[in-house]
Amino acid sequence: MDMTQEIARRRTFAIISHPDAGKTTLTEKFLLYGGAIAQAGVVKGKKNARAATSDWMEIEKQRGISVTSSVMQFQYEGYCINILDTPGHQDFSEDTYRTLMAADSAVMVIDAAKGVEAQTRKLFKVCVMRDIPIFTFINKMDREARDPFELCQEIEKELGIDTYAVNWPIGCGKEFQGVYDRAKGKIIHFSSNGGAKAATATEVDLGDPGLDGLIGPRLHGQLQEDVELLDGASCAFDLDRVRHGKLSPVFFGSALTNFGVEPFLEDFLRMTTAPLPRRAGEETVEATDPAFSAFVFKIQANMNKAHRDRIAFMRVVSGKFEADQEVYHVQGGKALKLSRPQQLMAAEREIISEAYAGDIIGVFDPGIFSIGDTLCAKGKKFRFDPIPTFAPEHFQRIRSMDTMKRKQFLKGVEQIAQEGAIQIFKPPYTGMEEVIVGVVGTLQFDVLAYRLRSEYNVELHTEGLPYCYLRMVGNEEPVKEDELNLGDAKLVEDYKGHQIVLFTSFWSIGWVQERNKDLILLEFGGGKEE
Ligand code: G4P
Repeated sequence: MDMTQEIARRRTFAIISHPDAGKTTLTEKFLLYGGAIAQAGVVKGKKNARAATSDWMEIEKQRGISVTSSVMQFQYEGYCINILDTPGHQDFSEDTYRTLMAADSAVMVIDAAKGVEAQTRKLFKVCVMRDIPIFTFINKMDREARDPFELCQEIEKELGIDTYAVNWPIGCGKEFQGVYDRAKGKIIHFSSNGGAKAATATEVDLGDPGLDGLIGPRLHGQLQEDVELLDGASCAFDLDRVRHGKLSPVFFGSALTNFGVEPFLEDFLRMTTAPLPRRAGEETVEATDPAFSAFVFKIQANMNKAHRDRIAFMRVVSGKFEADQEVYHVQGGKALKLSRPQQLMAAEREIISEAYAGDIIGVFDPGIFSIGDTLCAKGKKFRFDPIPTFAPEHFQRIRSMDTMKRKQFLKGVEQIAQEGAIQIFKPPYTGMEEVIVGVVGTLQFDVLAYRLRSEYNVELHTEGLPYCYLRMVGNEEPVKEDELNLGDAKLVEDYKGHQIVLFTSFWSIGWVQERNKDLILLEFGGGKEE
């Protein structure tokens, strides 16, 4: 297969959901179809035993949640699929947002009994920001579910995107019979014999009285009514709108019992795109450009405690990557060889020798990469557009309990900040005994305390701070705290020396601006702000 064909068969997407909607179960079914795992329970087991993929973080085991996002690759019907997993826990970090930057589309898993939940809403906003296509899988139809029309309306209303039901459920709970594929005019009827691929597709005319025998007269009548309503009321299917993130194709099914998962995967792979181009200032870098390029979207240290390693995850944007090939690190201004590139295959990491546009690779990082960095073929020097920084929403003041451990404390905090899991600030005129930490999700505070203890042998003293908004100071000359009327807001500096003001409420931003007309306050990154 040549490079163009390799790239054309790649699909790179993120799965997003509120915790417990069934993301892990669905991912596992995908992997099963692709033959990447031999039996169910490998991915799920991870959640409880948390063995292979992320044993580096004890906190995940203790709390049974996925703190970091991981990547999996598998093959299915000629496609090479990269799934980016996003942590579903209500507390999450910028990592989650950045993972979405590396994806070309997103699959949103929704619990049919619960509809749109808080976490989905938040992740969804990031997808909208990038206009990436969103596919909806309404899961758990084998349980009592809400009315499918109501669910679609909720998605439209809450998330502000049109929906198109690609298939329609026939009953729910114990009566869940399968789905009606609208384009094909087929009923995919399921018989539950233990969950394996037990679906039979029956081509039918909706008016066919024979259908009564298959799904019963009541559900048959209901389906006829629903489909009539759907055909009359819903907007037309438009692949172009799907690909611009304006219309979300909706599928119904049950990941646990394997109903509707494979038809979903097949349609999804057809509708979603091959690796998309990325912007680098004035240039657009196409996936099929034969020269290799990639950007770093995530850095993770100490994945293996014994080795104190640090891995930079990068998305290959164009061309082909070959191990030991020399590449140019634009931000570092140096040519280098990427050592021991690896990929995560289901539950295992493996060393790879080549990768193509759309793939995600992890390389050992001797401490030279930062998030957003560009790597490209020698002779090229473009920079991919920066990955937005998300404004932290929670703040703590932290210091080492043991003042003798100041050095380790600083090293640890700076390292973890470089990975992008936390942002650090310092009050002006102070030494480095204490640091103000800002995070997007409060779980990161626990992760920080845990990692400082286990990796740097530092116990933290922490104090919660009431701030929840921040603005960059845009004045040319540095401003002075004693010349400003800041009320309960606070002036700090980030580690690049930028002045930042922390506010306790949205309202107080206006209050401060009102009283300090010469102070220029600039918005900071993406994220909340509604
Ligand atoms: P998450 O990754 O989105 O957090 O969800 P996960 O797949 O772990 O699923 C959460 C729970 O929902 C699990 O039950 C799982 O078995 C169940 N589930 C997932 N898909 C379906 C479905 O289609 N139908 C039904 N009825 N249940 C589903 P659990 O009790 O928390 O875990 P376990 O004891 O099954 O391992």
